[in-house]
Order: sequence, then C-alpha cells, then structure tokens
Amino acid sequence: MRKLISLAATLSFVIVAGCAAQLSDSRSPAPAPGKAAVASADPLATQAGLDVMAAGGNAFDAAVAVAATLGVVEPSSSGFGGGGFFLLYIAATDEYRFIDAREMAPILSTRDMYLDEDGNPVKGLTVSGPLAAGIPGEPAGMAYLAENFGTLPFADLLAPAIRHAEEGFTMSRRALLGLRFRKRSVAESPAMAEVFLPNGELPAIGDVIRQPDLATTLRRMAADGADGFYKGETAHLLVDGVQAAGGIWTLDDLSNYRVIEREPQITNYRGMKVVSAPLPSSGGIVLTQVFNFLDGYAPEQLAGVQGKHLLIEGMRRAYRDRALYMGDTDYVAVPVARLTSRAHMDAQRASVALDRATPSSELDGIPDDGSAGDQTTHFSVIDAAGNRVAATITINTWYGAAFIPPGTGVILNNEMDDFSIKPGVPNEFELVGDEANAVAPGKRPLSSMSPTFLESDRGIAVVGTPGGSRIITMVLNASLDWFNGATAEDMVSRKRFHHQYLPDRVSYEPGAFSADEIAALEAMGHTLKEVARPYGNMNVVTYDFATGEVRSATDPRGEGEGRVY
Ligand code: DON
Repeated sequence: MRKLISLAATLSFVIVAGCAAQLSDSRSPAPAPGKAAVASADPLATQAGLDVMAAGGNAFDAAVAVAATLGVVEPSSSGFGGGGFFLLYIAATDEYRFIDAREMAPILSTRDMYLDEDGNPVKGLTVSGPLAAGIPGEPAGMAYLAENFGTLPFADLLAPAIRHAEEGFTMSRRALLGLRFRKRSVAESPAMAEVFLPNGELPAIGDVIRQPDLATTLRRMAADGADGFYKGETAHLLVDGVQAAGGIWTLDDLSNYRVIEREPQITNYRGMKVVSAPLPSSGGIVLTQVFNFLDGYAPEQLAGVQGKHLLIEGMRRAYRDRALYMGDTDYVAVPVARLTSRAHMDAQRASVALDRATPSSELDGIPDDGSAGDQTTHFSVIDAAGNRVAATITINTWYGAAFIPPGTGVILNNEMDDFSIKPGVPNEFELVGDEANAVAPGKRPLSSMSPTFLESDRGIAVVGTPGGSRIITMVLNASLDWFNGATAEDMVSRKRFHHQYLPDRVSYEPGAFSADEIAALEAMGHTLKEVARPYGNMNVVTYDFATGEVRSATDPRGEGEGRVY
C-alpha cells in the first residue's frame, strides 16, 4: 500500500487539506465585487446577460435573459419545454434562495405507464415523443425570477431570445452532433423536422436556424408573463399537439404548474461552505454525504491514489443512498437528516478498506438489472453588487423528447426518464432507483442537477454543469479543486472521473488517472472504464477576496463563453 501511495505522490492530489482556506460560520457578507460576470454555454447567451447588466439589470435579470437565450440558441440542451433549478444569493439581505422549476409528471401519469403487460419496460417510451415529457417548469421559473428578484420588465429580458428566434442562430458543431444522434425521432415530429431538418436533411454547420413559432410563443410570454405559456393560445396548442401524438397532457396540468421555493442544501467541508440543490435534486445531499465521508479521513490519507480510491468509495456509497432513498419529498418521506448526518457517513466508512474496492454488490441495495453527455446547460452569474445565480436547466437528453407540438416551437423535455420506471431498471444515465422515485401524478422526477456556490475566506465560486448522473461528481471534483486553490479555468478543464454505485465501475476521461494510478486502482479491485468521449460542459465564475479578481471560465469541451464586465 505504501508503495502505491508513493507511486502517486508526485501526481495530482485529490484532496489536500493543508492549503484550505478557513471560513467561520459567523462570517459577514462578502464584499461586493464591483464587476459582473457571466459564464454560459453559448456566447450569444453570455452577451445577453452582460447586456442586461450593462442596462442596469441585476444578476437575476441577467439570469432570465441568459436562460431564455439559451432556450433559443442552444436548443439541444434546455428551453421553454423543460425545467431546472436556480440557486440565488441575494447580497442585500445575505440570503440564499432556491427556485425549483423542475418538470412535473402529468396528472394522468401512472406508476407503470412505461411498462408493457408483462411488466417490462417499453423501449424508447421515456425518451422520444410526448409521453416522455413532464409538464415544463422553465417558463414559470423565469417569470418567477423576474417578478420576485429582477428589476427590469420581463419583456425586456425576453427580447434577445425573441430576436434570435426570429433572425436565427448558427448551427454549431455540438448542436449538430446532438441532432445527428436524434435525427430519427426528430423526423417523426413534423413541427420539429420543419425547423431542424430542412428538406428532410440535417443542416450543415454554419446554417442559420430560424424558429418563428417559438418567437410567437415568446411574444405571448413577453405580453402575459407565465400565463402566455401556461394558459390561452400557447397552452391549447401544446395540449392539442401532445394529445394528437398520443400524449396525456391536459390544460389543467399546465395551468396548475407552480415553481416551489425550497431551502438549499448546505454543508461545510473543512472550512469551505457548500450551498447546493435540495431534493428533488439529489445533488446537494450526495455532495454533503461525500464531504462528510471525506471529513473522517486525515489529509494524508486523502492524498495520491489512495485519495482517489477513497473518493470513489464515497461516491459509491452516496449514490447507493440516492438509488435507495431519494425522490420528491412532496410525495415520499426521504430520511434527509439521517443521510446528511455525520453519523451516517461515519458508519459507511466502517465498510471501507484503504486498499481495496468494495464491490457495490456487497452493499445492501437494489439488484443490478442491467451514456452521459453534455446536454442540459448550466450558467453562472455574478453582478457588481455581489448577487449570484447558479442555474442548471434542461430538457434532459439531446433535444429532449425530440418533439414539438405544432405551432408552438417548443421542444418538449424527456424528463420522465429521470423517474425510476421500475425498481432496478437503469435509465438513460444508467441510474437505478426504487419506489421513492417511482412515477406519480404531479411528482417531480429525481434530478442530479447541482447548481452550487462555494464560499471560504478565499472567495466565492459559482459552479455547475450538465452531464446527467455525472453532474454531482463533476461538481464534487471541481469543489475539491477549488478548495485546493484551483482557478476557474482549472476547474472547468480538469479531467474527470465518476462512480455511481451501479454499474459498479469507475468511468474516467483520458488523463484523469496516470498509468500508475490505473494499475493501482485496478489492483485494489476497481473496474475502470475510459469514456468514449469527454463529458460535461461546466461554467464557473469566481471572485477572489484578496485580489478582488473576478474570473469567468467555460469548459474547453463545449462552445461557451465566459466574460467579465
Ligand atoms: O435532472 C437530471 O439529473 C437530468 N435530467 C440532467 C440531464 C443532463 O444533464 C443531460 N446531460 N447529459
């Protein structure tokens, strides 16, 4: 073992407590940065956010403009037919708010709606077409954000998105990659094919994609706020289109949709405060669990390849709890206090060997019955006064359900796939679940999206990424990096690795481990699998208290842009 540790001693450390900044809980609010920054997955969206702040808007106004613009110019990843989470920090009152704009299962949905008569999953039903779609929350989330936290008229914040929908956006490499992947499903939705498969064929990189119907829908929202989407003409078009194609949405589903404000999930790791998403996202709880797990080890135990091994073991155990216990707390009782207690992870640590992987099958859990990417989108905003937004929003997999109800321009999500359609049956991200995350009318599917703030005496980081089940471990790795002194650029570009309990393997990007580390981890009994392509599209804004520097960094794997104003 000692040899394994020394082998890796010169390599990058996972966790080093030595250089951690300290933060006392009695800290006063952070000083205002005096600069604004946006990091998002698309330069047009970043520009929209900066323009809004230049016009006197705050970070919350900017977040609405960024989200709306992303919904037009990054249609593969998020939009008005989807949902998401907005984590806010309000500088004037020194408070955190969390807006849950997650999709809800339609009223007519049932627990076994994706199973055939023999109780087997019907392939594709949670992925393509209107049955895959939950009731969207993003339009309500944006309107709520503007109304309660913004300073500018909602219509002004939607203006850049409307312009891009009318004038068109340019097809990018990444947008085309996803479209190619979903071409067959897109072709089955005439309204979607009209926009995204001109003349029945894939567009070329550089082609201009106009979305006139979407512009009309957005103009109704500009005039009537959330009602412009959830009621009246738009609602009728959405429901008619869904029902005509075999879906189950009703007008009541839309008019009853509400965002929910929830308490963020907050933890402390050796002086770093971590503020993240509560249920129905598993993100904040899983992060809390892994930090509690790591906290029980001495810094030297967490160095080198042993540190990586222990981090993997922490991920394994927290994701096991995710699979077993987590779901929408408005429907099921989740033992959040127990899961996030120190005692729980102390007990988990008892089954960990410092030099041997624990097979997931040795943990009590769900039997294994059986690709994540960079769809979804995350953006980070800070304004000159110190207000912050971390937002992760999505239509789930590439181009969501690949379905547009005619006349709306709205690409529907396929978030129903985030439910556990049957205990132990893996979803698109190979996640398994149990009754806690079973489908029920009005319920919100369990998410991994983890918009997060990190705070210490060093400063502040606003962090998040897409990537399905891997979102949480990406945010975890980035948080540990920041804890160890990394810059925003380091955080977004680091090589990533991930374990999610089942399947029982460590997936990793080339370069995440050295050859020696791979050998050492395999010798401990870990199964390692290099991913077919890099994953994630992280956007980070940081503010350093000592230097006053504000940085904005986007993932080199994506096509985004981070700028400081
Ligand atoms: O809420 C979730 O966890 C997923 N719907 C997020 C999907 C995602 O990040 C897609 N990117 N690979």
